[in-house]
Amino acid sequence: MSQRFGDAHTVHKLDALEAYLNAYSTALKNQGFRLLYFDAFAGTGDIQVGDETPMLQTVDDYQPFVKGSAWRALQLGAAFDEYIFVERSLKKFRELGRLKDEFPAIADRIAIENGDANESLRTFCAETPWHRRDTPHHRAVVFLDPFGNQVEWDTLRRIADTQAIDLWYLFPAGLGVHRQIRKDGTVHFQHGDPLDRILGTSEWRTAFITQKIDDDLFEGARSRSAKVADPVAITEYMITRMRGIFRGGVLDEWVPLGSRNVHMYSLIFAWANPSRAARALAQRLAKGVLRSSNRGRLK
Ligand SMILES: C[S@@+](CC[C@H](N)C(=O)[O-])C[C@H]1O[C@@H](n2cnc3c(N)ncnc32)[C@H](O)[C@@H]1O
Repeated sequence: MSQRFGDAHTVHKLDALEAYLNAYSTALKNQGFRLLYFDAFAGTGDIQVGDETPMLQTVDDYQPFVKGSAWRALQLGAAFDEYIFVERSLKKFRELGRLKDEFPAIADRIAIENGDANESLRTFCAETPWHRRDTPHHRAVVFLDPFGNQVEWDTLRRIADTQAIDLWYLFPAGLGVHRQIRKDGTVHFQHGDPLDRILGTSEWRTAFITQKIDDDLFEGARSRSAKVADPVAITEYMITRMRGIFRGGVLDEWVPLGSRNVHMYSLIFAWANPSRAARALAQRLAKGVLRSSNRGRLK
């Protein structure tokens, strides 16, 4: 069985990922690295295209199927030495297991975990011998494709600290952040802390919310708050923050994605390796795969 979500923007994001994995593994082939692909929100390998917003599901039975990120990575064959898939849902985790039968030639390179993306990634970052002298150096591409606010800032920091990972992050700028702040600048009491965890700071409050003074003839000056950030400004804020931890860099171009012309997510690319060669390669490959996308650009 496939999972149900997504529409054209899902295909767009997956096409970009697949093109990057292909270009990356080709560029680093025969360079002596051990190449890893880590898909932290792996799904099942199949997607029935509908609506990516779980609460707005309008999927009918006649929507086409597309191949998901896990399948797209595996069809590259032996391009990566290891493919690691993490999926929290037990049902989807079991479905993922079928990919080993579908790709028997590389079944021994596939690891599938039923768990939490943040926890598994922290372990992966801590335990992989990225730069040890007695083993080949390890390099990885990580894909973070959550439905909402699942990715914690601390996880991004661990990824950045490896200095060896290229990251594609579907940041929920609209769905996960912008929609959690009401027009009047107030935030549901249960949503503030999750926003701190995804953005890694509580200072977003002063960046996204302003205090206005209204002069009332009878009551005098009255202060009221208002939301001033849109999903574009929130994406720019996140990219600027990520630049503080990714010593390689964060691409100044990003792709706005969503259904029905609503900006729900921003596809962001960052690389952790600070070397000049890694910068040149990461930028060239990422810009290359985004060339045909409608892009936002950091001001
Ligand atoms: C947008 S879908 C990913 C789709 C997948 N990348 C693909 O192309 O087919 C998000 C997936 O993450 C899973 N998920 C949600 N929270 C998770 C978590 N904390 N850790 C791991 N997986 C999670 C969901 O069950 C869902 O399958």
